[in-house]
Amino acid sequence: MSAQPILQAINLEKAYGNVIALNGSSLELFPGEVLAVVGDNGAGKSTLIKCLSGAEVPDTGEIFLEGNQVHFAKPQDGRGAGVETVYQSLAVAPALDIAANLYLGRELRRPGLVGKVFRTLDNSAMKAASKNHIADLGISTIQNISQAVETLSGGQRQAVAVARASAFSSKVIILDEPTAALGVRESNQVLKMIERLRDRGLPVILISHNMPQVFEVADRIQIQRLGKRAAVVTPKTHDMNQVVAIMTGALTVDEKDQTFKPVR
Ligand SMILES: Nc1ncnc2c1ncn2[C@@H]1O[C@H](COP(=O)(O)OP(=O)(O)OP(=O)(O)O)[C@@H](O)[C@H]1O
Ligand SMILES: [Mg+2]
Repeated sequence: MSAQPILQAINLEKAYGNVIALNGSSLELFPGEVLAVVGDNGAGKSTLIKCLSGAEVPDTGEIFLEGNQVHFAKPQDGRGAGVETVYQSLAVAPALDIAANLYLGRELRRPGLVGKVFRTLDNSAMKAASKNHIADLGISTIQNISQAVETLSGGQRQAVAVARASAFSSKVIILDEPTAALGVRESNQVLKMIERLRDRGLPVILISHNMPQVFEVADRIQIQRLGKRAAVVTPKTHDMNQVVAIMTGALTVDEKDQTFKPVR
């Protein structure tokens, strides 16, 4: 693992009125890893990744992408810099087909004057590229790229959202609960996609409540508790019971020496 994180957050704080969502939260994402972020409801996981992607602006704290400090004010800023996010509330356009969803907001224009002047879309190029990309990610259950997204199953829809996030020259993929609404088969498909993304060198941040899934795909696990990073562990050094104990505060961890101290 390289010493320089691709994405790093230092001491982020974010309050919504009286509610403190982030209370000095940090995060490091290294090249080629899947970092899971776990924690109880309201622990600040979604807020943390919204700050990383530009959907929210932290009150204080610093964010670095490839060592350079960034100040994302809106999701387009993060996306433009290569941070692609699939939010917990899934953002797909149901009435559009798969290819149109993949290219939403960055449509390809026809070459030459028709594209430049009349802004004519290059539908066949987008369809062909989408088909390749979907096949490349191993999404085998989608048969027709022209199918409207609203007619897809929940898992296929999620797969389209992940495919969209990875279709462009992204540096980081962030997935907030991508399998929460999915059955076993569909979840497995999304997990396989995550592994494929990592195998291609794309680092992934995965927020999930599903411990077996986290232990299956994560290289490291960041445990959020009360708006802070309580610990970072790995599936090799810790088991699910320990992670849940840290999540709930039954165990605390000294971040420096990573020793466990039962709470009295
Ligand atoms: N837009 C908002 N306005 C007010 N409070 C908010 C807002 N967004 C988040 N919060 C609060 O901030 C805290 C952290 O919320 P966040 O969504 O980050 O939690 P989470 O860890 O993602 O939880 P979950 O596992 O339920 O998705 C919660 O107490 C939540 O109620
Ligand atoms: Mg959340």
